[in-house]
Amino acid sequence: MARILTGVQSTGRPHLGNILGAILPAVELANKVENDSFLFIADLHSLTQIKDSKILNENSFQVAATWLACGLNPDLTTIYRQSDVPQCTELAWYLNCYYPYQRLKLAHSFKDKADRLEDVNAGLFSYPMLMAADILLYDADFVPVGKDQLQHLEMTRDVAARINHKYGDVFILPKEIIEKNNQLIPGTDGEKMSKSRNNTIDIFESEKTIKNIINKNIITDNTPLEDSKDPNSSTVYRLFKLLASKDRSGKMADNLLAGGYGWGHAKKELLEEILYTFSEQREKFTHYINHPDEVEEILQKGALKAQKVAKKTLDRVRKNLGYN
Ligand code: ADP
Ligand code: TRP
Repeated sequence: MARILTGVQSTGRPHLGNILGAILPAVELANKVENDSFLFIADLHSLTQIKDSKILNENSFQVAATWLACGLNPDLTTIYRQSDVPQCTELAWYLNCYYPYQRLKLAHSFKDKADRLEDVNAGLFSYPMLMAADILLYDADFVPVGKDQLQHLEMTRDVAARINHKYGDVFILPKEIIEKNNQLIPGTDGEKMSKSRNNTIDIFESEKTIKNIINKNIITDNTPLEDSKDPNSSTVYRLFKLLASKDRSGKMADNLLAGGYGWGHAKKELLEEILYTFSEQREKFTHYINHPDEVEEILQKGALKAQKVAKKTLDRVRKNLGYN
């Protein structure tokens, strides 16, 4: 049974792009019974940027509620908060001491962020070693990640190999699974949907708010109602096509091309499609928001399972390093 582990950033409530592009495919992989899956909310990583305790806490909750609402089965996947397993920070320290400063300096993610962010702290710099600890602590065989995380996986293998070279087989060298078929979900402005672009659709908002976002933020041309319209000229159709059946999206394209059918009609259909596609997820999400104790209980159960594995690995590491 292969152990699959991945971490998700806790930067607030995930949007439609995150859900279609990352969460739903990951849930499918995680719920496969032949896999031993671990999924954690990387709230220690968040501390490099979020210094507001309320927001830090709330973000983790929103992320956990989203994954659960999107079908992650806590009986099949160990879901936990990174900060609930303190063994991770201990291992990160050991790894930091076995990894050359000069190599950490080569991390793309740090260089990118150091240019953009105001708060460039030491945690941000040693982030790859915390990520290596996240992975090595659980003897993960496979780590599903986006392309941008590839270098972090290489650093993880590098530091693990350095320790293995000195002490024998202390760590399993993990392999990445790169999400190649990730669909790119357009935002309301037609560019990649992203928090930083302010072009997101939040499927957990009220019907009224989603309607407003669709009506106000999705740009359409002002072709008269009776004229023929190019379906692909607006994000309304592109988003509709991602959600609706082939039949239904074909019908919308025909209507737009035929004329007598306006963008207002298409926007109304898009709203209905979002509410219909995500009705179960919306219901579950509302349930979790109203029952935060249930989410907490799931996370605590996950943390206990994770700690059990973590303690075993850390014992092994401590013995090898000379702390016995
Ligand atoms: P954001 O760009 O909103 O900050 P993140 O970078 O936190 O989103 O991405 C979290 C996950 O969601 C990543 O796996 C990323 O590949 C995926 N993702 C983000 N935006 C999109 C999108 N527009 N289409 C498809 N996947 C996306
Ligand atoms: N750095 C990852 C990201 O930005 C999140 C992450 C943290 C992670 N620790 C991990 C992913 C361990 C996989 C495994 O998306």
